[in-house]
Amino acid sequence: MAAAYELRCRECGKRYENAPLSICDECFSPLEVVCDLEAAKRTLTREAIAAGPSSMWRYQALLPVPEDYKPVTPAGWTPLLHAPRLAERIGARNLFIKNDAVCLPTLSFKDRVVAVALANAQIFGFDTVGCSSTGNLANAVAAGAARLGLKTYILVPGDLEPAKILNTQVYGATLVRIDGNYDHVNRLCSQIADRYNWGFVNVNLRPYYAEGSKTVGFEIAEQLGWRLPDNVVVPMAGGSLITKIRKAFKELIALGLVEEKEVRFFGAQATGCSPIATAVKTGADHIEPQRPATIARSLAIGNPADGVYAARAIRESGGWAEDVSDVEIVSAIQELAETEGIFTETAGGVTTAVTARLYAHGRIHPDELTVACITGNGLKTTDVLQGAYEQHAAIRPRLTDFENYLEECSEENELELGGAYVR
Ligand SMILES: Cc1ncc(COP(=O)(O)O)c(C=O)c1O
Ligand SMILES: [Zn+2]
Repeated sequence: MAAAYELRCRECGKRYENAPLSICDECFSPLEVVCDLEAAKRTLTREAIAAGPSSMWRYQALLPVPEDYKPVTPAGWTPLLHAPRLAERIGARNLFIKNDAVCLPTLSFKDRVVAVALANAQIFGFDTVGCSSTGNLANAVAAGAARLGLKTYILVPGDLEPAKILNTQVYGATLVRIDGNYDHVNRLCSQIADRYNWGFVNVNLRPYYAEGSKTVGFEIAEQLGWRLPDNVVVPMAGGSLITKIRKAFKELIALGLVEEKEVRFFGAQATGCSPIATAVKTGADHIEPQRPATIARSLAIGNPADGVYAARAIRESGGWAEDVSDVEIVSAIQELAETEGIFTETAGGVTTAVTARLYAHGRIHPDELTVACITGNGLKTTDVLQGAYEQHAAIRPRLTDFENYLEECSEENELELGGAYVR
Protein backbone atom coordinates (compact mmCIF):
# COMPACT_ATOMS: atom_id res chain seq x y z
CA MET A 1 0.00 0.00 0.00
CA ALA A 2 1.58 3.31 -1.08
CA ALA A 3 -0.24 5.52 1.43
CA ALA A 4 -1.16 4.58 5.00
CA TYR A 5 -4.74 4.13 3.77
CA GLU A 6 -6.63 3.69 0.50
CA LEU A 7 -10.07 2.83 -0.86
CA ARG A 8 -11.16 -0.70 -1.67
CA CYS A 9 -14.39 -2.14 -3.07
CA ARG A 10 -16.20 -4.15 -0.44
CA GLU A 11 -17.30 -6.79 -2.93
CA CYS A 12 -14.78 -7.16 -5.78
CA GLY A 13 -11.77 -5.83 -3.86
CA LYS A 14 -10.72 -3.33 -6.56
CA ARG A 15 -8.28 -0.79 -5.09
CA TYR A 16 -8.55 2.97 -5.56
CA GLU A 17 -6.28 5.87 -4.71
CA ASN A 18 -7.74 8.29 -2.20
CA ALA A 19 -10.43 10.41 -3.86
CA PRO A 20 -13.98 11.63 -3.19
CA LEU A 21 -15.54 8.38 -4.37
CA SER A 22 -17.99 6.03 -2.72
CA ILE A 23 -19.05 3.49 -5.37
CA CYS A 24 -16.95 0.95 -7.29
CA ASP A 25 -16.94 1.63 -11.04
CA GLU A 26 -16.63 -2.12 -11.78
CA CYS A 27 -19.44 -3.60 -9.71
CA PHE A 28 -21.29 -0.58 -8.19
CA SER A 29 -20.72 -1.80 -4.62
CA PRO A 30 -19.68 0.56 -1.81
CA LEU A 31 -16.04 1.50 -1.29
CA GLU A 32 -14.39 1.33 2.11
CA VAL A 33 -11.19 2.76 3.56
CA VAL A 34 -8.52 0.19 4.37
CA CYS A 35 -5.75 1.31 6.71
CA ASP A 36 -2.25 -0.17 6.55
CA LEU A 37 -2.33 -1.96 9.91
CA GLU A 38 1.12 -3.49 9.42
CA ALA A 39 2.62 0.02 9.26
CA ALA A 40 0.57 1.19 12.24
CA LYS A 41 1.61 -1.87 14.26
CA ARG A 42 5.26 -0.79 14.16
CA THR A 43 4.67 2.34 16.24
CA LEU A 44 1.24 2.11 17.84
CA THR A 45 1.20 1.03 21.48
CA ARG A 46 -1.33 1.41 24.30
CA GLU A 47 1.06 3.93 25.89
CA ALA A 48 1.36 6.01 22.69
CA ILE A 49 -2.43 6.16 22.45
CA ALA A 50 -2.83 7.09 26.13
CA ALA A 51 -0.33 9.92 25.65
CA GLY A 52 -2.46 11.36 22.84
CA PRO A 53 -5.17 14.02 23.11
CA SER A 54 -8.38 13.52 25.15
CA SER A 55 -10.40 13.21 21.96
CA MET A 56 -11.01 10.71 19.16
CA TRP A 57 -7.78 11.97 17.59
CA ARG A 58 -5.77 9.82 20.02
CA TYR A 59 -6.47 7.13 17.37
CA GLN A 60 -5.32 9.32 14.47
CA ALA A 61 -2.95 6.61 13.21
CA LEU A 62 -6.01 4.41 12.56
CA LEU A 63 -8.05 7.08 10.77
CA PRO A 64 -7.88 8.13 7.10
CA VAL A 65 -5.96 11.39 7.47
CA PRO A 66 -2.30 12.15 6.71
CA GLU A 67 0.21 11.52 9.49
CA ASP A 68 0.91 15.25 9.88
CA TYR A 69 -2.79 16.25 9.94
CA LYS A 70 -3.57 18.76 12.72
CA PRO A 71 -7.10 18.17 14.04
CA VAL A 72 -9.33 21.21 14.54
CA THR A 73 -12.38 19.59 16.13
CA PRO A 74 -11.72 17.67 19.35
CA ALA A 75 -14.74 15.34 19.13
CA GLY A 76 -15.19 12.09 21.03
CA TRP A 77 -13.54 10.58 24.15
CA THR A 78 -16.95 10.45 25.81
CA PRO A 79 -17.64 8.69 29.13
CA LEU A 80 -18.14 4.95 29.43
CA LEU A 81 -20.34 4.69 32.50
CA HIS A 82 -21.20 1.75 34.69
CA ALA A 83 -25.03 1.67 34.86
CA PRO A 84 -26.03 -0.32 37.95
CA ARG A 85 -29.39 1.35 38.54
CA LEU A 86 -30.64 0.85 35.00
CA ALA A 87 -29.17 -2.66 35.14
CA GLU A 88 -31.22 -3.52 38.20
CA ARG A 89 -34.43 -2.33 36.52
CA ILE A 90 -33.91 -4.42 33.41
CA GLY A 91 -32.39 -7.55 34.92
CA ALA A 92 -28.74 -6.92 34.03
CA ARG A 93 -25.71 -7.14 36.30
CA ASN A 94 -22.80 -5.89 34.20
CA LEU A 95 -24.09 -3.06 32.04
CA PHE A 96 -22.17 -0.04 30.72
CA ILE A 97 -23.30 2.97 28.74
CA LYS A 98 -21.15 4.63 26.12
CA ASN A 99 -22.49 8.14 26.43
CA ASP A 100 -22.25 10.04 23.15
CA ALA A 101 -25.18 12.21 24.28
CA VAL A 102 -22.35 14.44 25.48
CA CYS A 103 -20.11 14.16 22.41
CA LEU A 104 -18.73 17.57 21.41
CA PRO A 105 -19.34 19.86 19.73
CA THR A 106 -22.99 19.06 18.81
CA LEU A 107 -24.05 16.29 21.23
CA SER A 108 -24.17 13.19 19.06
CA PHE A 109 -21.73 10.59 17.75
CA LYS A 110 -22.03 12.25 14.34
CA ASP A 111 -19.37 14.74 15.44
CA ARG A 112 -16.89 11.87 15.08
CA VAL A 113 -17.75 11.00 11.49
CA VAL A 114 -17.90 14.65 10.49
CA ALA A 115 -14.46 15.39 11.94
CA VAL A 116 -12.93 12.79 9.61
CA ALA A 117 -15.11 13.68 6.61
CA LEU A 118 -14.36 17.40 6.78
CA ALA A 119 -10.63 16.77 7.17
CA ASN A 120 -10.87 14.92 3.85
CA ALA A 121 -13.09 17.58 2.27
CA GLN A 122 -10.23 20.00 2.90
CA ILE A 123 -7.60 17.57 1.63
CA PHE A 124 -9.60 17.14 -1.61
CA GLY A 125 -9.95 20.93 -1.93
CA PHE A 126 -13.73 21.35 -1.55
CA ASP A 127 -14.82 24.86 -0.53
CA THR A 128 -18.46 23.81 -0.20
CA VAL A 129 -19.71 20.85 1.81
CA GLY A 130 -23.04 19.33 2.72
CA CYS A 131 -24.99 16.26 3.70
CA SER A 132 -28.34 14.55 3.64
CA SER A 133 -29.38 14.10 7.23
CA THR A 134 -31.95 12.82 9.69
CA GLY A 135 -30.87 15.66 12.01
CA ASN A 136 -27.76 14.92 14.03
CA LEU A 137 -25.49 14.84 11.01
CA ALA A 138 -26.92 18.19 9.94
CA ASN A 139 -25.93 19.72 13.29
CA ALA A 140 -22.45 18.20 13.20
CA VAL A 141 -21.70 19.23 9.60
CA ALA A 142 -22.99 22.77 10.17
CA ALA A 143 -20.82 23.26 13.27
CA GLY A 144 -17.74 21.57 11.83
CA ALA A 145 -17.92 23.49 8.56
CA ALA A 146 -18.40 26.80 10.39
CA ARG A 147 -15.17 26.20 12.29
CA LEU A 148 -13.32 25.51 9.03
CA GLY A 149 -14.93 28.42 7.15
CA LEU A 150 -16.54 26.18 4.52
CA LYS A 151 -19.82 26.97 2.73
CA THR A 152 -22.49 24.50 3.74
CA TYR A 153 -25.72 23.13 2.23
CA ILE A 154 -27.74 20.72 4.29
CA LEU A 155 -30.76 18.79 3.07
CA VAL A 156 -33.23 17.25 5.50
CA PRO A 157 -36.71 15.67 5.46
CA GLY A 158 -39.43 18.28 6.04
CA ASP A 159 -40.70 16.77 9.32
CA LEU A 160 -37.49 17.15 11.36
CA GLU A 161 -37.61 18.14 15.05
CA PRO A 162 -37.50 21.95 15.52
CA ALA A 163 -34.39 21.74 17.75
CA LYS A 164 -32.44 19.92 15.06
CA ILE A 165 -33.38 22.56 12.51
CA LEU A 166 -32.37 25.43 14.79
CA ASN A 167 -29.15 23.63 15.75
CA THR A 168 -28.23 23.59 12.07
CA GLN A 169 -29.22 27.11 11.09
CA VAL A 170 -27.47 28.76 14.02
CA TYR A 171 -24.08 27.88 12.49
CA GLY A 172 -24.92 29.77 9.30
CA ALA A 173 -25.53 26.71 7.14
CA THR A 174 -28.08 26.86 4.33
CA LEU A 175 -30.78 24.40 5.35
CA VAL A 176 -32.98 22.94 2.62
CA ARG A 177 -36.11 21.14 3.85
CA ILE A 178 -37.40 18.56 1.39
CA ASP A 179 -40.99 17.46 1.07
CA GLY A 180 -40.16 13.76 1.35
CA ASN A 181 -38.42 11.20 3.54
CA TYR A 182 -34.68 10.63 4.04
CA ASP A 183 -34.40 8.34 1.04
CA HIS A 184 -35.74 11.07 -1.26
CA VAL A 185 -33.34 13.57 0.33
CA ASN A 186 -30.37 11.24 -0.10
CA ARG A 187 -31.08 10.58 -3.77
CA LEU A 188 -31.24 14.31 -4.44
CA CYS A 189 -27.93 14.85 -2.61
CA SER A 190 -26.16 12.36 -4.90
CA GLN A 191 -27.36 14.35 -7.91
CA ILE A 192 -26.29 17.66 -6.35
CA ALA A 193 -22.84 16.37 -5.38
CA ASP A 194 -22.22 15.32 -9.01
CA ARG A 195 -23.64 18.50 -10.57
CA TYR A 196 -21.93 21.07 -8.32
CA ASN A 197 -18.73 19.24 -7.27
CA TRP A 198 -19.44 19.74 -3.59
CA GLY A 199 -18.16 17.51 -0.82
CA PHE A 200 -21.16 15.68 0.63
CA VAL A 201 -19.91 13.97 3.77
CA ASN A 202 -22.23 10.95 3.55
CA VAL A 203 -22.32 10.73 -0.25
CA ASN A 204 -19.02 11.22 -2.13
CA LEU A 205 -16.97 11.38 1.12
CA ARG A 206 -18.84 8.45 2.70
CA PRO A 207 -15.93 5.98 2.98
CA TYR A 208 -13.90 8.54 4.98
CA TYR A 209 -16.88 9.72 7.02
CA ALA A 210 -17.78 6.16 8.06
CA GLU A 211 -14.30 5.49 9.49
CA GLY A 212 -14.93 8.11 12.19
CA SER A 213 -17.40 5.72 13.84
CA LYS A 214 -14.55 3.30 14.56
CA THR A 215 -13.50 5.62 17.37
CA VAL A 216 -16.59 4.58 19.40
CA GLY A 217 -15.20 1.03 19.36
CA PHE A 218 -11.61 2.08 20.09
CA GLU A 219 -12.78 4.10 23.09
CA ILE A 220 -14.96 1.30 24.49
CA ALA A 221 -11.98 -1.08 24.41
CA GLU A 222 -9.52 1.40 25.93
CA GLN A 223 -11.99 2.53 28.61
CA LEU A 224 -12.61 -1.10 29.62
CA GLY A 225 -8.87 -1.35 30.28
CA TRP A 226 -7.97 -2.64 26.82
CA ARG A 227 -10.42 -5.50 26.68
CA LEU A 228 -13.47 -6.18 24.57
CA PRO A 229 -16.99 -6.48 25.99
CA ASP A 230 -19.15 -9.58 25.47
CA ASN A 231 -21.99 -7.64 23.81
CA VAL A 232 -22.64 -4.24 22.26
CA VAL A 233 -26.10 -2.79 21.57
CA VAL A 234 -26.12 -0.21 18.78
CA PRO A 235 -28.91 1.89 17.24
CA MET A 236 -29.13 1.58 13.46
CA ALA A 237 -30.27 3.96 10.74
CA GLY A 238 -28.05 3.60 7.64
CA GLY A 239 -26.35 0.72 9.47
CA SER A 240 -22.82 2.12 9.28
CA LEU A 241 -22.06 2.70 12.98
CA ILE A 242 -22.60 -0.93 14.03
CA THR A 243 -20.31 -2.26 11.29
CA LYS A 244 -17.59 0.23 12.15
CA ILE A 245 -17.55 -0.57 15.88
CA ARG A 246 -17.02 -4.18 14.85
CA LYS A 247 -14.27 -3.15 12.42
CA ALA A 248 -12.59 -1.18 15.23
CA PHE A 249 -12.53 -4.25 17.51
CA LYS A 250 -11.05 -6.35 14.69
CA GLU A 251 -8.35 -3.76 14.05
CA LEU A 252 -7.41 -3.66 17.74
CA ILE A 253 -7.11 -7.47 17.71
CA ALA A 254 -4.97 -7.35 14.54
CA LEU A 255 -2.73 -4.74 16.17
CA GLY A 256 -2.32 -6.87 19.28
CA LEU A 257 -3.80 -4.13 21.48
CA VAL A 258 -6.58 -6.39 22.85
CA GLU A 259 -6.99 -10.13 23.20
CA GLU A 260 -8.90 -11.90 20.45
CA LYS A 261 -12.60 -12.33 21.17
CA GLU A 262 -15.86 -12.57 19.19
CA VAL A 263 -18.04 -9.73 20.45
CA ARG A 264 -21.77 -10.16 19.82
CA PHE A 265 -23.46 -7.21 18.11
CA PHE A 266 -27.09 -6.35 18.74
CA GLY A 267 -28.88 -3.87 16.47
CA ALA A 268 -31.68 -1.59 17.67
CA GLN A 269 -34.40 0.02 15.55
CA ALA A 270 -37.84 1.55 15.96
CA THR A 271 -40.66 -0.72 14.78
CA GLY A 272 -41.87 2.14 12.56
CA CYS A 273 -38.61 1.93 10.61
CA SER A 274 -36.99 -1.46 11.07
CA PRO A 275 -35.70 -2.73 7.72
CA ILE A 276 -32.43 -4.08 9.18
CA ALA A 277 -33.99 -5.65 12.29
CA THR A 278 -36.60 -7.29 10.07
CA ALA A 279 -33.92 -8.79 7.81
CA VAL A 280 -32.10 -10.18 10.87
CA LYS A 281 -35.28 -11.63 12.35
CA THR A 282 -36.45 -13.23 9.11
CA GLY A 283 -33.00 -14.41 8.05
CA ALA A 284 -33.28 -12.54 4.73
CA ASP A 285 -30.02 -11.73 2.96
CA HIS A 286 -31.42 -8.56 1.41
CA ILE A 287 -33.07 -5.47 2.91
CA GLU A 288 -36.71 -4.80 2.10
CA PRO A 289 -37.09 -0.98 2.11
CA GLN A 290 -39.76 0.51 4.39
CA ARG A 291 -41.63 3.80 4.55
CA PRO A 292 -40.59 5.27 7.95
CA ALA A 293 -43.25 6.16 10.52
CA THR A 294 -41.70 6.67 13.95
CA ILE A 295 -40.83 9.38 16.45
CA ALA A 296 -37.22 8.16 16.24
CA ARG A 297 -36.56 10.45 13.32
CA SER A 298 -32.78 10.22 13.58
CA LEU A 299 -33.10 6.50 12.77
CA ALA A 300 -35.77 6.91 10.09
CA ILE A 301 -33.93 5.57 7.06
CA GLY A 302 -36.17 3.18 5.16
CA ASN A 303 -33.56 2.07 2.62
CA PRO A 304 -30.30 1.86 4.60
CA ALA A 305 -27.07 2.16 2.58
CA ASP A 306 -25.18 -0.25 4.85
CA GLY A 307 -28.16 -2.38 5.83
CA VAL A 308 -26.88 -5.60 4.27
CA TYR A 309 -23.50 -5.18 5.97
CA ALA A 310 -25.11 -4.38 9.33
CA ALA A 311 -27.34 -7.47 9.15
CA ARG A 312 -24.33 -9.57 8.15
CA ALA A 313 -22.20 -8.21 11.03
CA ILE A 314 -24.97 -9.01 13.54
CA ARG A 315 -25.47 -12.52 12.19
CA GLU A 316 -21.75 -13.37 11.93
CA SER A 317 -21.13 -12.19 15.48
CA GLY A 318 -23.89 -14.36 16.94
CA GLY A 319 -25.98 -11.33 17.93
CA TRP A 320 -29.55 -10.32 17.18
CA ALA A 321 -31.69 -7.30 16.34
CA GLU A 322 -34.89 -6.00 17.90
CA ASP A 323 -37.32 -3.17 17.27
CA VAL A 324 -39.48 -1.27 19.74
CA SER A 325 -42.63 0.86 19.58
CA ASP A 326 -42.77 4.65 19.95
CA VAL A 327 -44.43 4.25 23.38
CA GLU A 328 -41.57 2.02 24.54
CA ILE A 329 -39.05 4.56 23.21
CA VAL A 330 -40.49 7.38 25.32
CA SER A 331 -40.66 5.20 28.45
CA ALA A 332 -37.05 4.14 27.92
CA ILE A 333 -35.89 7.75 27.56
CA GLN A 334 -37.49 8.45 30.96
CA GLU A 335 -36.11 5.28 32.52
CA LEU A 336 -32.52 6.06 31.47
CA ALA A 337 -32.83 9.62 32.76
CA GLU A 338 -34.37 8.51 36.09
CA THR A 339 -31.89 5.72 36.76
CA GLU A 340 -28.60 7.01 35.38
CA GLY A 341 -29.02 10.76 34.95
CA ILE A 342 -28.56 10.57 31.19
CA PHE A 343 -31.03 12.40 28.96
CA THR A 344 -30.96 10.84 25.53
CA GLU A 345 -32.84 11.51 22.34
CA THR A 346 -35.21 9.05 20.69
CA ALA A 347 -32.36 6.96 19.23
CA GLY A 348 -31.09 6.37 22.79
CA GLY A 349 -34.62 5.44 23.82
CA VAL A 350 -34.52 2.83 21.07
CA THR A 351 -31.19 1.47 22.36
CA THR A 352 -32.37 1.38 25.98
CA ALA A 353 -35.72 -0.27 25.20
CA VAL A 354 -34.09 -2.84 22.93
CA THR A 355 -31.43 -3.58 25.57
CA ALA A 356 -34.17 -4.24 28.14
CA ARG A 357 -35.95 -6.53 25.66
CA LEU A 358 -32.74 -8.50 24.97
CA TYR A 359 -32.31 -9.27 28.69
CA ALA A 360 -36.02 -10.05 29.09
CA HIS A 361 -35.90 -12.54 26.20
CA GLY A 362 -32.69 -14.16 27.45
CA ARG A 363 -30.67 -13.09 24.42
CA ILE A 364 -28.12 -11.45 26.74
CA HIS A 365 -27.07 -13.16 29.98
CA PRO A 366 -27.19 -10.79 32.98
CA ASP A 367 -23.52 -11.39 33.92
CA GLU A 368 -22.09 -10.71 30.47
CA LEU A 369 -20.26 -7.42 30.03
CA THR A 370 -22.61 -5.43 27.83
CA VAL A 371 -22.21 -1.92 26.43
CA ALA A 372 -25.29 0.01 25.27
CA CYS A 373 -24.45 2.86 22.88
CA ILE A 374 -26.29 6.08 23.61
CA THR A 375 -25.61 8.18 20.54
CA GLY A 376 -27.53 11.46 20.88
CA ASN A 377 -28.85 14.05 23.33
CA GLY A 378 -32.41 14.40 24.67
CA LEU A 379 -32.41 18.19 24.46
CA LYS A 380 -32.79 17.81 20.69
CA THR A 381 -36.02 15.79 20.84
CA THR A 382 -37.92 17.30 23.77
CA ASP A 383 -41.04 17.38 21.56
CA VAL A 384 -41.63 13.66 22.27
CA LEU A 385 -42.01 14.42 25.99
CA GLN A 386 -44.56 17.16 25.41
CA GLY A 387 -47.31 16.74 28.00
CA ALA A 388 -45.42 14.03 29.93
CA TYR A 389 -44.95 16.23 33.00
CA GLU A 390 -47.53 18.47 34.67
CA GLN A 391 -46.66 22.09 35.40
CA HIS A 392 -48.41 23.21 38.58
CA ALA A 393 -49.20 26.87 39.28
CA ALA A 394 -46.34 28.72 40.99
CA ILE A 395 -46.71 28.81 44.79
CA ARG A 396 -45.94 31.72 47.10
CA PRO A 397 -42.41 31.71 48.59
CA ARG A 398 -43.62 30.56 52.03
CA LEU A 399 -42.89 27.42 54.00
CA THR A 400 -46.59 26.74 54.66
CA ASP A 401 -47.33 26.93 50.93
CA PHE A 402 -44.48 24.51 50.26
CA GLU A 403 -45.84 22.12 52.92
CA ASN A 404 -49.31 22.27 51.41
CA TYR A 405 -47.78 21.58 48.05
CA LEU A 406 -45.92 18.51 49.38
CA GLU A 407 -49.16 17.20 50.83
CA GLU A 408 -50.94 17.62 47.52
CA CYS A 409 -48.12 15.79 45.80
CA SER A 410 -48.28 12.82 48.13
CA GLU A 411 -52.06 12.61 47.68
CA GLU A 412 -51.59 12.63 43.92
CA ASN A 413 -48.91 9.94 44.19
CA GLU A 414 -51.21 7.75 46.24
CA LEU A 415 -53.93 8.18 43.66
CA GLU A 416 -51.52 7.26 40.88
CA LEU A 417 -50.18 4.24 42.74
CA GLY A 418 -53.69 3.05 43.52
CA GLY A 419 -54.68 3.50 39.91
CA ALA A 420 -53.33 1.99 36.76
CA TYR A 421 -49.84 3.46 36.99
CA VAL A 422 -47.65 1.06 35.11
CA ARG A 423 -44.31 1.62 33.52
C1 LIG B 1 -28.40 9.58 17.26
C2 LIG B 1 -28.12 8.59 16.19
N1 LIG B 1 -27.82 7.33 16.55
C3 LIG B 1 -27.58 6.38 15.63
C4 LIG B 1 -27.62 6.65 14.27
C5 LIG B 1 -27.38 5.52 13.31
O1 LIG B 1 -26.20 5.60 12.61
P1 LIG B 1 -26.00 4.79 11.24
O2 LIG B 1 -26.71 5.58 10.19
O3 LIG B 1 -24.53 4.76 11.07
O4 LIG B 1 -26.62 3.43 11.41
C6 LIG B 1 -27.91 7.95 13.84
C7 LIG B 1 -27.94 8.28 12.42
O5 LIG B 1 -28.35 9.31 11.99
C8 LIG B 1 -28.17 8.95 14.83
O6 LIG B 1 -28.47 10.21 14.49
ZN1 LIG C 1 -16.28 -3.57 -7.00
